[in-house]
Amino acid sequence: MIYLDNGATSFPKPREVGRAMSWALSRFANPGRGGYPASLEAAREIYRCRSAAGELFGCKPEAVVFTGSCTQGLNMAIRTLVKPGGRVVISGFEHNAVTRPLHALGAEVTVAGRRLFDWEDTLSRFRDALKGRPDAAVFTHVSNVFGYILPVEEMAEMCREFQVPFAVDAAQSAGTLPVRLDRWGADFVAMPGHKGLLGPQGTGMLLCGRLPEPLLQGGTGSESRRQEMPDFLPDRGEAGTLNVPGISGLLAGIRTVTRLGPEAIHRREAEEAARCARGLREMGFSVFSGARQGGTVSFLPEGDCEAAADRLARRGISVRAGLHCAPLAHESAGTLETGTVRVSFGYKTGPWESQAFLAAAEELRGGM
Ligand code: ALA
Repeated sequence: MIYLDNGATSFPKPREVGRAMSWALSRFANPGRGGYPASLEAAREIYRCRSAAGELFGCKPEAVVFTGSCTQGLNMAIRTLVKPGGRVVISGFEHNAVTRPLHALGAEVTVAGRRLFDWEDTLSRFRDALKGRPDAAVFTHVSNVFGYILPVEEMAEMCREFQVPFAVDAAQSAGTLPVRLDRWGADFVAMPGHKGLLGPQGTGMLLCGRLPEPLLQGGTGSESRRQEMPDFLPDRGEAGTLNVPGISGLLAGIRTVTRLGPEAIHRREAEEAARCARGLREMGFSVFSGARQGGTVSFLPEGDCEAAADRLARRGISVRAGLHCAPLAHESAGTLETGTVRVSFGYKTGPWESQAFLAAAEELRGGM
């Protein structure tokens, strides 16, 4: 199989990830719940993962709250920053993980910047929207559909200038692009553990620049007499037993990313995406690509997107078609009615996979 759906999850995982998970299952009990060796060992392992993440993302280990997904982290961040009916600015490329929680809160949402690969448009529209002094801003670092890398450094700086609290969705960038809680001065940065960080599904992290409102209430192994959740990090955001094997796997994933180097991974993925975009364009397909693009590219086949993805799957090529849980991004690009076929590269993919994909894509010419 040629796996080109790394935007959904990285696959296959490094061997070390499975090994670490298996080791955790046989060695670690519940962290923070006992003074005996298997509990203490588990707590040390969790702390090692917090420290590795803190070092990579510019924050203290305690500021790393483990979650079950990026979505869970975004929900926690949004619930903290936005009160029911609050006013929020988002980019034109947000995922449902951002727009649905805002919808559930009845937030008044301003969508700023809808032109793909156009930093000038993104920044000027974002600045205009911030002038209205919203309660918060939430924006993605990289579009999961189009691979558009947004100018988050500058957007963060604008939020600081206008004193608007903000959260960044690093779902498609953590592990490949610089993500820094300290430099951005963000209130929150949410990320999955199972994409660019190469960990298992069911893991994620919320980097906290301030105390979050807990999504869940429950045991933390701390301040057990009190009925309120602890008012310190990371306990406030971590009710219930942590996913210890998952976090061990995530630690192994983070170590692999650190060893390979996020910049090198990004370069490789972006090169393949560009190669793929060139090849598809030469075949006459409509391709969404631009200067500020990561390892993801979307295109329009001549017929139905889902049918094209099925056809590729029969040739052993795995891609994702449709709306990619991001109708807003598709609306911005004018593909809400059709969806797109998305090809997303990963830490292991190389030129021969792009070539195999392009050879299979030839067959999509002329419709279905
Ligand atoms: N959000 C993931 C994707 O883009 C699942 O496919």
